[in-house]
Amino acid sequence: MTECKVAVVGTGYVGLTTGACLAEFGHDVVCLDIDSNKIDRLSSGEIPIYEDGLQHLVSRNTEEGRLRFTTNSAALDDREFAYLCVPTPRRNDGSVDLSFLESAVDSLRPHLRPGAVVINKSTVPVRCTRFVEDRLRRPDVSVVSNPEFLREGSAVADFLKPDRVVIGSDDREAASRVASLYLETRAPIMITDAASAETIKYVANAFLATKLSFANSVAALCEAVGAEASEVLLGIGYDGRIGHQFLRPGPGWGGSCFPKDTRALVHIADEAGYDFALLRSVIETNETQFARVVDRIGQLAPGGLEGASITVLGLTFKAGTDDLRESPALEIVDRLIAAGATVTGYDPTVIDAVAPSWDVAGDPYSACEGSDVVAVLTEWDEFKDLDLQKVADAMRGDVIFDARSVVDRARATRCGLRYAGIGTR
Ligand code: UGA
Repeated sequence: MTECKVAVVGTGYVGLTTGACLAEFGHDVVCLDIDSNKIDRLSSGEIPIYEDGLQHLVSRNTEEGRLRFTTNSAALDDREFAYLCVPTPRRNDGSVDLSFLESAVDSLRPHLRPGAVVINKSTVPVRCTRFVEDRLRRPDVSVVSNPEFLREGSAVADFLKPDRVVIGSDDREAASRVASLYLETRAPIMITDAASAETIKYVANAFLATKLSFANSVAALCEAVGAEASEVLLGIGYDGRIGHQFLRPGPGWGGSCFPKDTRALVHIADEAGYDFALLRSVIETNETQFARVVDRIGQLAPGGLEGASITVLGLTFKAGTDDLRESPALEIVDRLIAAGATVTGYDPTVIDAVAPSWDVAGDPYSACEGSDVVAVLTEWDEFKDLDLQKVADAMRGDVIFDARSVVDRARATRCGLRYAGIGTR
């Protein structure tokens, strides 16, 4: 494979993973960020995020001279490719804040060499590739959309072995050059127009969120009719057209992507004159799921939520990450506190207090001390192996509410706990 000179602008989890993995493919990569503290930490081998396998990849490729970090835009001067991996946060009205993207584009303009390709990985509204082209004002440089489909916690594996690579551009030659960066992955590479590539990113997340809201609705239906959601979802998943993935009911979906991207897509559709009612309902179903979980915990607490002591095991938006952004667990904690409960949390990746109104314990058993209901809200492996007798002994009450189906029901019952879950009798 030909080694290419690549720059990656932005060292968040997408940028850092992109940089480290491209270096792993053999390319010569420089990562840029405006945060000098972050660049210093990365240069000294410290990884600011918890991402499986990333530390190892960064260390090896830095040592072998294929990966370096800088705040100096002059590092762009000899680069054939420049990735944009900057945040595109959501504004309150669902629209996307492009200010980080704008300043990143401005920082590229004076440095890019003629014939360079700018590759946008940030999730941006449809037609933003054109917006970047216009703002860049460098007709000698091509702009290509190359959306990312990385999951936090498995971002490295997702990058090295993707299901597909999507490249969108009206300049086919530039798109083919970008495709050559990914030959090592052996994944199907789809080249399409820029607007379609940008839409694929949003629609992929919207479809996955739809699957999850559907699974949570099926779980609610199963509770009502007395069926087992795990059996029902397994049963439909065997149909190859449906599949087993992304059908695990839970406390609701969250994270830095699904809530932002689903709302952004509703907004994009609105602006284009299409009312994406289905997706609005997917988002509303998720809000309802938070409320259902809180109601359920209230029903399980002997005297309701007012004055109850509730333990929340798992605070991150899913297992395998230390990310608390838009975490369903935190949303549920807020609602429990608003209803008058006292909350103690525990999470393997959270050591400090998250908010002044509730405590975070150093281990799961002290978190359960004096608790009326223990609610498992993130599917950490650690919770599969809990010493349930120790949990039962520490509690004041006897209910374990397992919103992620990770606790062994029979073992919980043997330890004198009453088991409750989502979509189960
Ligand atoms: C998601 C997508 O999966 C990635 O493909 C995409 O690249 C990324 O957003 C992004 O746009 O950057 P991520 O936010 O890391 O990745 O998280 P997921 O693993 O997709 O989980 C999202 C939420 O769904 C979590 O709250 C998780 O607990 C929940 N979930 C997931 C379930 O409740 N049940 C499931 O079966 C799967």
